[in-house]
Parts: sequence; structure tokens; C-alpha cells
Amino acid sequence: MIAVTGATGALGGRVAAGLAELGLTQRLVVRDPSRAPSLAGAEVVGGAGYADGDALRRAFAGADTVFFVSAHEDRNRVDLHRGVVDAAVVAGVERIVYTSFVGAAPDTVFTFGRDHFQTEEHIRASPLRWTFLRDNFYLDLMPLFAGEDGTIRGPAADGRAAVVARDDIAASAVAVLSRDVHEGAVYEMTGPEALTLHEVAEQVAQAAGRPVTYVPETLEEARASRAPSGAPDWEIEGWVTSYASIAAGELERVSPDVERLTGRAPISLAQFLRDNPDSLRHLMP
Ligand SMILES: NC(=O)c1ccc[n+]([C@@H]2O[C@H](COP(=O)([O-])OP(=O)(O)OC[C@H]3O[C@@H](n4cnc5c(N)ncnc54)[C@H](OP(=O)(O)O)[C@@H]3O)[C@@H](O)[C@H]2O)c1
Repeated sequence: MIAVTGATGALGGRVAAGLAELGLTQRLVVRDPSRAPSLAGAEVVGGAGYADGDALRRAFAGADTVFFVSAHEDRNRVDLHRGVVDAAVVAGVERIVYTSFVGAAPDTVFTFGRDHFQTEEHIRASPLRWTFLRDNFYLDLMPLFAGEDGTIRGPAADGRAAVVARDDIAASAVAVLSRDVHEGAVYEMTGPEALTLHEVAEQVAQAAGRPVTYVPETLEEARASRAPSGAPDWEIEGWVTSYASIAAGELERVSPDVERLTGRAPISLAQFLRDNPDSLRHLMP
């Protein structure tokens, strides 16, 4: 029995669908059961927010493995994540597969990436057998980096990111979850190439049939341009440092892990844009 968290979301939903296709038994552990997908071989347990240890323990009881999707950004995300891991241990779960982030380290430039390091450390110190999928930025979101005015703005300089499609992460996760031979492995989820944001803008422009350009910002310019959103400082810092980590080269390595796990080459940005014209809708007149 595999317990799948985040199944109402983009990644967890794809993983749940992939496990169902293989005929595996799973339990979708979600907050709102009315938003959970309806899948053969899947039962749904609702009310299981990451802050609710009792509900999580009940939801995980009887599961051998937990697929743990990291929470939305939150000031207390590390505490939420520790709670999920502790609930899994108390419930008798044996194995956890966690969606981490490329370059997870205590001092990674991307401040949200530090949460993933802390979570990995907590899992390593637990009795659970573990596998980490360290995701690069989602390739699916690249069109949304461009605002309606056709500019991508951020302090990424000329750095490169090996962005990866959520479909490829999900297929890799299904491969890991369906065979229990990945203990202690850290897999890097990347696409087939590392792109600068100039190159991202070019590809998005070509697919959208309109100009799209990348305008590099300084860190100060980036903080100032995001301040009017009213978001708290920790959140703005996360957004800004996501670009700064590209500038620092933290996201540029291209890994063979997706192909090794799934048996097929990862999807490129160009292919994604061809297959998903809806992703460009906000850039159309
Ligand atoms: N690599 C990247 O570029 C990138 C970009 C964005 C996010 N992420 C991270 O990757 C995760 C998965 O991505 P995604 O595209 O699947 O995001 P998504 O579509 O927003 O789905 C996130 C899932 O996690 C659940 N969730 C979030 N916070 C939770 C909490 N505190 N307690 C219980 N459930 C919670 C959500 O439940 P509800 O439906 O109830 O909200 C949803 O099912 C995100 O949550 C985020 O940590 C990575």
C-alpha cells in the first residue's frame, strides 16, 4: 500500500494516475477529498493537512510507503515537513519517497531550497528507508515566467537551469515507487538541457508567435519590483533567490536520472511548448 500525499495537486495527481495505471493499491492522503482524483485501486482519506499529526497518523496507518510531496511555501514549512515524517514513523511506514530540490543544502542560494535540506536531514535521521527526488524548476512553468507584457524579469544573469517537466518527475516517481530497490538514492530530476532565460524567452517567443524577452535585474531591483505584491519578506526572498540560484550555477547540471528511471529521454521545453499551446494563453492577444 502506497500513501500518496499532494494527490490534489499537479505532481501528486500525475503520480497517483501512474500508479493506478500499473494496478497498484494506493491511498490518496489529501486535505479536501472532494478534489481528489477518482482512480481504480485508490482509496481517499481527507482532512490530512501537514499540520495535523493525528490525522496524518491515521491516514498513513497500514501503508508501507509514503510518497511525500513538499508543501506549498510556508514560513514554517520545515516544521510541517518534520510533522509528516514523524507521523509516518509512528504509523509504521517503512519507506518514504520525498520530492526535494536540486542542490538542497543549508546554504543554497535559493532560500526555499534550504527547507528541503532540513527535511532531507530529518528523514535521514529517521528509521525510514528513503529516496529523494531532487527536482529542478518545473519546465511547465517557464511560459508563466513571462508576464503579459512579454518580459521575463529576474536576477538570473546568464545562468542556466536544467528545467524539467512535471510529467518526467511523475514518471520517475512511479518507477521508484513501484520497485523497492532505490533505498538511499538521491536522484536529480532535470530536463535534457540547461537553458539561460534568454534562451527560454526565445523559445517561448517562437511558440507564442510574439516577442518575449528576458530583462536581467539586480537583486535590489528584483526585491523592489516584487514589493508591491504585499507578500512577506521571506516569500519575496524565496522568489528573488530562485533566479539568483540560476545565476549562481546551482541549477545548471543536466542529470541522466530521468532517462535511467523511465527508460526515455526527458521532455524538452520546445517539445512541451508544442504539445501544450494552452500554456501560452496569457501571452496571446
Ligand atoms: N520545482 C519547482 O519548480 C516547483 C514549483 C512550485 C512548487 N514546487 C514544490 O513542489 C510541490 C508539488 O508541486 P505541484 O506542482 O504538484 O504543486 P501543486 O499543484 O500546488 O500541488 C501541491 C499539493 O500539495 C498539497 N499541499 C501543499 N501544502 C500542503 C499542506 N500544508 N498540507 C497538506 N497538503 C499540502 C496540496 O494540497 P491542496 O490541494 O489541498 O492545496 C496539493 O495537493 C509544491 O507543493 C512545492 O513544494 C516546486
